[in-house]
Amino acid sequence: MFNTMMIKARVDKGYSLRRILLRWLLLPLLTLFTIGTVVVYQIALSYSEDAYDRALYDSADDIVKLCQASLRTSGEITLPAAAKDVLLADQYDKVYYSVMDDQGKLLAGDGKLKPDVEKASESDNRHFYDTAVDGAEVRAISTVLHMRMIDGNHSWTIVVGETRNKREHLADQIITGFVMPQILIILLASLLVMFAVKRGLAPLESLRLALSQRSHNDLNALQVPNLPSEVMPLTQEINSLLARIKSVFEVQKQFTADAAHQLRTPLAGLSAQTDFALEQKNPPQTQHALDQIKVVAGRLSHAVNQLLSIARNEPGAERSLQMQALDLNAFARDTTLEWVETAMKQHMDLGFEETDNAVIINADPARLKELLDNLIDNALRYCPSGSRITVRVSGDATLQVEDNGPGIPPEERERVFERFHRLLGSEIHGNGLGLAIVREIAELHHASIVVTEGAGGHGALFTVQFKTIPATEAS
Ligand SMILES: Nc1ncnc2c1ncn2[C@@H]1O[C@H](COP(=O)(O)OP(=O)(O)OP(=O)(O)O)[C@@H](O)[C@H]1O
Ligand SMILES: [Mg+2]
Repeated sequence: MFNTMMIKARVDKGYSLRRILLRWLLLPLLTLFTIGTVVVYQIALSYSEDAYDRALYDSADDIVKLCQASLRTSGEITLPAAAKDVLLADQYDKVYYSVMDDQGKLLAGDGKLKPDVEKASESDNRHFYDTAVDGAEVRAISTVLHMRMIDGNHSWTIVVGETRNKREHLADQIITGFVMPQILIILLASLLVMFAVKRGLAPLESLRLALSQRSHNDLNALQVPNLPSEVMPLTQEINSLLARIKSVFEVQKQFTADAAHQLRTPLAGLSAQTDFALEQKNPPQTQHALDQIKVVAGRLSHAVNQLLSIARNEPGAERSLQMQALDLNAFARDTTLEWVETAMKQHMDLGFEETDNAVIINADPARLKELLDNLIDNALRYCPSGSRITVRVSGDATLQVEDNGPGIPPEERERVFERFHRLLGSEIHGNGLGLAIVREIAELHHASIVVTEGAGGHGALFTVQFKTIPATEAS
């Protein structure tokens, strides 16, 4: 019940191998690719930022050198126009610079670029900072020049900056040159994964097709070519199941044929007897014919009951059993008593031996009675008049039926339990089903049954060994 519900729930939710494989392959793949792309993009960006920063650093260095040269020659800062043009020339970006003395007075440059207020007091080392000029983002470097002049030590702050156009342009180039192909690779890889999963699961689909196209009459082994080793065991299991079903099918077919044959003979007899009875003119002959009809009808009904019993006791009938704790002594005694009258009519000595203590077993009383009835019926049927039959219960939960009749030859002792098997040459009527029913009932009770020779090497001794149940359970 639980399993059925689970399977149903999984089917409802679309539990599919393909989906699981895709989820476990595609999700990690996409995540790894995305992380990789972002990391590589960041690294590429930081390298390019470093390269442009170095160029900015060189520009600041050039201005510092120009300022030093100017201070040495003229004692004040004047930058040559040609040098300024070279400094300010840039294909993509606007370049700004300012030179201020230690009072903050602008000595050169446009003054638009302000020094980094936060770090100004920290040190005079060169450092980079981000700022804005005319609303545009600017990357700048600030440096301090110290020089000893005639009137003492002085310092000048020099800042150089440039807009971020070429940096952004490079970022765009990285995106189109690296990230875009990477996204294409991700898409391609996803398609390949989906294709691979489809290819990988294809053998299951061929197996499904092979099974769905099969007629219910075809129980031969499945032949699906090129199955991978993972699917092979599944096919082998299906084939072994098919083989088992086939053999059960064959047995059933044989049984139906044997059963039909078994019923056809008495039915033909019944028809012949009826014709004969109808032809009779005088009552005694009619009476005799009717008596014969009754005998044949009785055999027919016996055969039909046995067939029904076999169907009832088929393997798997355990669920229909009505098991209960049963005292084997009392049960066997009562059943034997019912046969005493028949035995006496046949001049047989039917006896019963029991144990002093109760023998409790777990059994279905109706089926167990059928078992014992068949054994006593056989003994009464196959032993000559005057024979001795004993029904015996022993303390180890065995039930025995022993006679001193003709017995069963050793080579037949296993076969007599097969359906429709009878000993050759028997003139006594029978269907050959009684002992088969006995064995099936014994198996339903997890009991064993064997036939051996009786005491002194004469007759037949049928022994049914039951499993004892613990005293606590029995009570
Ligand atoms: N106690 C016995 N002594 C000698 N032979 C026996 C004894 N019990 C069974 N047999 C032999 O075993 C055969 C099988 O017995 P089984 O009870 O299965 O079928 P049956 O008696 O022939 O027919 P039915 O289906 O009506 O019982 C019998 O035909 C008989 O030859
Ligand atoms: Mg019998």
